[in-house]
Amino acid sequence: MEAVTPSDGRLRSLLEASMAITSDLSLESLLQRLVSTAAELTGATYAALGVIDPSGQQLESFVTSGIDHETQRAIGDLPSGRGILGALIDEAAPLRLHDLSDDPRSVGVPPNHPAMHTFLGVPILVRGVAYGNFYLTEKAGEEDFTEDDQEIVSLLAAQAAIAIENARLYEAATQWSQQLESLNEIGNALATETDLGRLLDLVARRSRELLNARLVTVLLPVGAEELRFVAVAGEEGAGLIGQTMPRAASKSGRVIERGRSERADSVPDDPEVDHEVMRRFGVRTGLWVPLVARGRRIGLLAAHDKLLADPRFTDNDLRLAETFASRASVAVDLSQRIAQTAFRRVVEAQELERRRLARELHDETGQALTSILLGLKSLEDAVDGEDARGSVASLRELVVATLQDVRRLAVELRPKVLDDFGLVPALERLTESFAEQTEIDVRFESGLGDERLPAEVETALYRIVQESLTNVVKHAHARVVSIVLARKPDAVVLVIEDDGRGFDPADTREGGFGLEGIRERVGLLEGKLQVESREGAGTTIVAEVRLI
Ligand SMILES: Nc1ncnc2c1ncn2[C@@H]1O[C@H](COP(=O)(O)OP(=O)(O)OP(=O)(O)O)[C@@H](O)[C@H]1O
Ligand SMILES: [Mg+2]
Repeated sequence: MEAVTPSDGRLRSLLEASMAITSDLSLESLLQRLVSTAAELTGATYAALGVIDPSGQQLESFVTSGIDHETQRAIGDLPSGRGILGALIDEAAPLRLHDLSDDPRSVGVPPNHPAMHTFLGVPILVRGVAYGNFYLTEKAGEEDFTEDDQEIVSLLAAQAAIAIENARLYEAATQWSQQLESLNEIGNALATETDLGRLLDLVARRSRELLNARLVTVLLPVGAEELRFVAVAGEEGAGLIGQTMPRAASKSGRVIERGRSERADSVPDDPEVDHEVMRRFGVRTGLWVPLVARGRRIGLLAAHDKLLADPRFTDNDLRLAETFASRASVAVDLSQRIAQTAFRRVVEAQELERRRLARELHDETGQALTSILLGLKSLEDAVDGEDARGSVASLRELVVATLQDVRRLAVELRPKVLDDFGLVPALERLTESFAEQTEIDVRFESGLGDERLPAEVETALYRIVQESLTNVVKHAHARVVSIVLARKPDAVVLVIEDDGRGFDPADTREGGFGLEGIRERVGLLEGKLQVESREGAGTTIVAEVRLI
């Protein structure tokens, strides 16, 4: 093989090309200059440079020389990297051909494409990784491309490789700093923004920008059965806000259940995906990341369809989404804790107020009525005449009844026995007087012994039984109610079961405050509540409260 000795002109062109790399040309115009130089130095009529996308499968951009705009428009789409171009992508080794169309790998050229015969392809490699290829065709004078040409183009390819790598590094660095900026912004918002909706909206918008996704949604559970869209970023998604979907039948619900991030490269083929919502949006790919705070799974962040030719998300995208999800988790957890604290204060204030009213009714109103009673007694003895005595007597009976009412009301408001002797004696009294008043058979059983529980827990369980018994009278038409208190190593379980007519628990969302109040009280103690009921089959309420 002859040593390659480029002529002066060629050397100058090569030098110019390498100077261009250090100037601040855009990657596009730099590649354009390299292509033109390659055509010039080898005498090729047509030259092109294809950049392979990071997946390594297809061409991301295609810069040409020798083909004017008109022709380019007439040819249509850029080559996708099949045929000979594909072979060069796969093999990444130089290739010289006398006639393109003779090669068995050739798939032919599209209509309106200029005829091409002689061919030189040279890969652009950086540390063994192919970043793209030079393609040169139709050397002037119908000659074949030479070894010499190949060497020259290889030198240009080395320049192109550096330029492309620099551009990718720059892009990665910019992306990185954008990510940091967004996360910083969310961090600041966490410290200052108190509106959860606005915070999650920010998380959704920023993650959509950085993931370059079509749609990003944040879902939080409502009750045990459903998930609600609380933040949505993406033009078509605005209508989703506030909508709910069943937890059990959806991919989102399942990902929350499993507590691990997941990715689907083809949503229509994923049997778990909630097809109704996904079909409405024509979603193709998805990322699902659970929101987890202090070990609790509290929601989900999902992203769909990368806005690139290839809509699939990468591992990096998944990690990025996880970072955003962890920020969102902190926000949700914080706001739930604030809401809980506020609610706890309300409940505490309510109990205090009830206690004060109960004492006032008992001590003041009760005392006053007792004095009146005594007064009436002496009056009854003092007055003459049957009629007068009769009136005083019936007045006295009225006062006795009122006094009983006042005492009952005081006990209902806040039984002294609950404070003085604890939950079990208080429930014994409550169930006894309930049985007397209603003629329902109430069975109460306690496995607690003499143990006193934290005041907050005793109050909550007492109020739960109170509300449940009221519901039994109001709605159940039951004959028997059983109330069982059981002790677990670190929890107390309360079971209230009636044999009444039952109801559909899913149907009562817009109903009264009773069950909702029970749910909130249990939630406040980070406990679990189950309401099992079917029409005609009675009702069972199970509340489990942890003792910390
Ligand atoms: N033990 C029960 N048996 C049959 N139905 C019940 C029972 N408990 C609750 N329900 C049904 O559930 C609904 C909701 O109960 P909840 O206690 O929340 O509201 P409410 O009792 O109607 O009103 P409030 O408690 O606010 O006075 C009731 O209206 C009733 O239809
Ligand atoms: Mg009720």
